[in-house]
Amino acid sequence: MSAFSQSENNSQDSLAARLKIDYLLDFQAIEKDDIQEVINGLNNEQKSIPARYFYDSQGSQLFEDICQLPEYYPTRTEASIIKQYALEIVKQTQAIELVELGSGSSTKTRYFFDAYQQLNIPLYYTPVDVSDSILKTSANQLLADYPQLKIQGKVATYHQALQQLSNNFLGKRIIIFLGSSIGNFNSLKCDRFINQLRSALNSQDYFLLGIDLQKPRKILEAAYNDAQGVTAAFNLNMLQHLNHRFAGNFKLDLFKHEAIYNQTEHQIEMYLISQQAQTVTLSNLNLTIELKKEEKILTEISRKFDLDKMEQYLSDRNLNVIKTYTDARQWFGLLLVQLS
Ligand code: AVI
Repeated sequence: MSAFSQSENNSQDSLAARLKIDYLLDFQAIEKDDIQEVINGLNNEQKSIPARYFYDSQGSQLFEDICQLPEYYPTRTEASIIKQYALEIVKQTQAIELVELGSGSSTKTRYFFDAYQQLNIPLYYTPVDVSDSILKTSANQLLADYPQLKIQGKVATYHQALQQLSNNFLGKRIIIFLGSSIGNFNSLKCDRFINQLRSALNSQDYFLLGIDLQKPRKILEAAYNDAQGVTAAFNLNMLQHLNHRFAGNFKLDLFKHEAIYNQTEHQIEMYLISQQAQTVTLSNLNLTIELKKEEKILTEISRKFDLDKMEQYLSDRNLNVIKTYTDARQWFGLLLVQLS
């Protein structure tokens, strides 16, 4: 064996020694819940499809593309805030474990790893994602780039991960939930999530929450109706996903994407609008639905928040906002939170 391949092998070994992945997904239970949710959603007066159907492999790629769009400001605005304050946050929190819910490609999280590296603090990183391929690929890349990092990923739902974390404390922990993904939960799901999150925190631990803030309708609607039609493709791909998964016959060209800002609810609502009266069948679900011309299927809500109201909401649930970080335009907020 040449010296090169030996050292390459050693470094592979040391990468593997720094990586552990727990597989917690219960596919049978997920399948059962998914089926029931699709059937219920499509039978309701206001038809809907759960937003997680966006994310098959094509949809995940389209979401990555959305994040690069000129109109889609949230990703780059949040990244700029993290870039500016990562060092300050790491100094303040001094956590030895960083848990990321919905870690995906962990791109923005790298600013935190840079800060840990700069301060020479070793870190356990716990990425949580339902996609094991994204989790593994990004974990291996991160281990190669950050020699002081140890990764213990969880292929899991947020619910499963938080449940496991609440019985398992390594030391001081920060849980981060970025991208305003909390905005995709309705208020019931949001309450449930916050309750669970609390049980995964000890008194010295921190929670860092990224939220998209209210702003003029024009900016919001442009972000979800981009000129290149990437968000439209992302929305329509959901029908393709359902066709594939449940032997459906949705015809994509008979639907149109629409995203509107509901000013009363402070939320973007994404719809697929039926362009004619039509019948659609999902054979594997024994489900047939009738759609009228112009009937709308709700596919996603994306809530836009007010910083003071969010602070009050968290404080009513025994969570104390220690510090708020935002950008110059106040378009996006990062809230650093502890149990009160
Ligand atoms: C993942 N989530 C926070 C995105 C959002 O902005 O609500 C999903 C998205 N939908 C359309 N564009 C982006």
